Amino acid sequence: MKCFFEQAHRSAGSGAALGRWLVPIALLIPVPIRAAAAATADSSLSPNIFAPESAPALSIHHLSLFVLAVCAGIFAVVLGLIVYAAVRFRRRADDDGKEPPQIYGSNPVEVAWTTVPLLIVVVLALTTARVVQQVQDAPRPPSALDVVVIGHQWWWEIRYPKLGIVTANELHVPVSFPQKRAPTFLELRSADVAHSFWVPRLAGKTDLIPNRVNQMWIEPSRTGLFLGQCAEYCGTEHAKMLLRVYVHSPEDFARWAAEQKAASALAPAVAAGRLVFERTACINCHTLNGTIGSGRFGPDLTHLMSRDTLGAGALSNSPENLRAWIDRPDQFKPGVLMPAMSLTPADLDQLVNYLVTLK
Ligand code: CUA
Repeated sequence: MKCFFEQAHRSAGSGAALGRWLVPIALLIPVPIRAAAAATADSSLSPNIFAPESAPALSIHHLSLFVLAVCAGIFAVVLGLIVYAAVRFRRRADDDGKEPPQIYGSNPVEVAWTTVPLLIVVVLALTTARVVQQVQDAPRPPSALDVVVIGHQWWWEIRYPKLGIVTANELHVPVSFPQKRAPTFLELRSADVAHSFWVPRLAGKTDLIPNRVNQMWIEPSRTGLFLGQCAEYCGTEHAKMLLRVYVHSPEDFARWAAEQKAASALAPAVAAGRLVFERTACINCHTLNGTIGSGRFGPDLTHLMSRDTLGAGALSNSPENLRAWIDRPDQFKPGVLMPAMSLTPADLDQLVNYLVTLK
């Protein structure tokens, strides 16, 4: 890759007439590559496809660099020939005005421009097929974590069937080491329309299709937070269907799982708030262990305050935001399917006081 661009720069530098044209053009080509190098150094939360941190994303990244290099080569050759022809055969002052010699047919040239592109296409198709096969048919080690992700308008239901954990919008997984692999295998379903699970630094996109089960996997190589989003238009709030993947060390993941499995204790001081929850329509859509709420239309609230965001990333999760969200969810997420509950301020305060104890 590097050699290719070094050569492009060098050949662009030779030849004064050509050089004037080619240098700015050659400089344009490596822009994504330079962006990639800059992004690798920057550990910000940007969902950058050029900064993979997980096995399938890495193979896709390598493949895309290869395809990009081949295409950049074709681009450079074609553009070089066009520029060469335009400069070399441009109109001159001493032109005699006659037509140049007309040449028809050349077997060697025709064979060359048929076979070379054919070979390029075959190579690109085979390398792509190999990566697709590597990613889709990856063997599943026994140490893999199973997660079911269900797309809803407009949030993600996340279930760990073997751990008995249910959460939303924020996927927690362990980091994977080469000696001690811990990939996460995701089963993707949809509760309503088509969505698409996309965390660019961890894997490619996979759609969540109604009445169909799709599979994908991630194998993050370092801990941290990785951002993603729904990548398939799924209605009004598609843009606010954000994903957060927290990659933990094995110990931190075990701690998180233990906290999620623990039953939330009811502090007597907030019993009135729980009663508000149980008396209103909240229970039709939300499950909250220890209450009569068992709906699955909205996120499970059992450990609500263990999450960093509300409304699938629409706003950060704080008592003030939670109160404003319950009061009027559509001010943060217009078109949201959660209705404004029209609670009295006193009921709202009690409800929020109760909900903030759900750690
Ligand atoms: Cu879900 Cu777009």
